[in-house]
Amino acid sequence: MRLILSDFVLVCDEGFGIIENGGVCFDEKIIAVGDASELLAKYKDAQVERLSENSVLMPGLINSHVHLEFSANVATLKFGDFMSWLRSVIASRDELQSECDEEMIARTLQDILKSGVTTIGAISSFGLDLAPCVKSALNVVYFVEVIGSNPAAIDTLFDDFKARFYEAKKLKSGSFFPAISVHSPYSTHPVLARHALDIARAEGVQTSAHFMEAACEREWLDNGGGAMAEFMKAFNPHSKPMSSAKEFLQLFHDTKTLFVHAVQAKDEELDIIAGQGGSIAHCPRSNALLGTHALDIANTAKHGVGLTLGTDGLSSNISLNLWDEMRAAIFTHQNCELEGLAALLLKSATINGAKALALNKGVLSEGYDADIIALKLPQSPKDISQLPLQIILRTGKAEAIYIGGVKR
Ligand code: BEZ
Ligand code: FE2
Repeated sequence: MRLILSDFVLVCDEGFGIIENGGVCFDEKIIAVGDASELLAKYKDAQVERLSENSVLMPGLINSHVHLEFSANVATLKFGDFMSWLRSVIASRDELQSECDEEMIARTLQDILKSGVTTIGAISSFGLDLAPCVKSALNVVYFVEVIGSNPAAIDTLFDDFKARFYEAKKLKSGSFFPAISVHSPYSTHPVLARHALDIARAEGVQTSAHFMEAACEREWLDNGGGAMAEFMKAFNPHSKPMSSAKEFLQLFHDTKTLFVHAVQAKDEELDIIAGQGGSIAHCPRSNALLGTHALDIANTAKHGVGLTLGTDGLSSNISLNLWDEMRAAIFTHQNCELEGLAALLLKSATINGAKALALNKGVLSEGYDADIIALKLPQSPKDISQLPLQIILRTGKAEAIYIGGVKR
């Protein structure tokens, strides 16, 4: 049993509690959180460590949406416009895959861990990331992806998906959780999506899907027109939208799905997501680099949809550091009150991410998994209400990382 004491403890519960001169007592689970002197008096057998000045303890961060298999991208893919980017992904997918190996993915995972992220939601398109994800110290929710719009290829694509999913399922553990991702409404045939989601419900695994990432996706699904129409002909010369946005969401009944981006989602679609108990993965830098505009986070909150935070892959970002992502979000959402925004982002990256991935993590409270990080600020803010903001502005990595109570 360890007892770590710090200047500040960020509980990351619903009320976003902050304890000054606090501590966390834990083994593999959190035993108690509270005032430092009270914990010292109560847990006399604990191995005690007092962190240095300006220290912060908080739950390990959760990056809810990342594509590790695209980690080789630096300047291969075209940024600036969603359709140009998507064309470049299709053209360079094989090249990027061949430049990425297990070693690169293992290094990427190690960098993610050092930043203070203890859990990721990883979208796996090919299976190249399977072994490194299983071996990693990180908790990985491993979303095996199903994709393909050509009706003639459904059987082959479904067989390939099933092989990848059941391979991952064999490796399920206390830190590796197989899950299922339907790529998007424009790229995945509803029959394929339905079959994959039947497996998700039968196996009781988490689900995710890209949804309403760009205006051209909106236009294509709503009326079969726009910049996406020409692109879709390459996959099927007679292609039409395969479902409406609403029909696509309805495929996910009885799941609590993590919908990624949703920057173009309409109010009634947000209501469907909220009604299903779903969440949104917000990836502000990916949205900025693909020219798809910022998510209206005040509106998603108004509709009762839980907000989580993701970096997306290096296919649409310059780093997989969730602190960089939070800083970008601070500069993106200039219409939001700043201190409230900082607290929302830290909750998105902890408690909300854990809820969306159905994990007993993301909060420093008795009974939760002891996934804990220690941070060091250059200076403590004079006004404690500025602490969440200062943490986001001044942090790039964790000083110490515990996963399931084990130091990493
Ligand atoms: C397909 O595989 O059919 C597809 C992939 C990406 C975008 C659209 C369609
Ligand atoms: Fe993505």
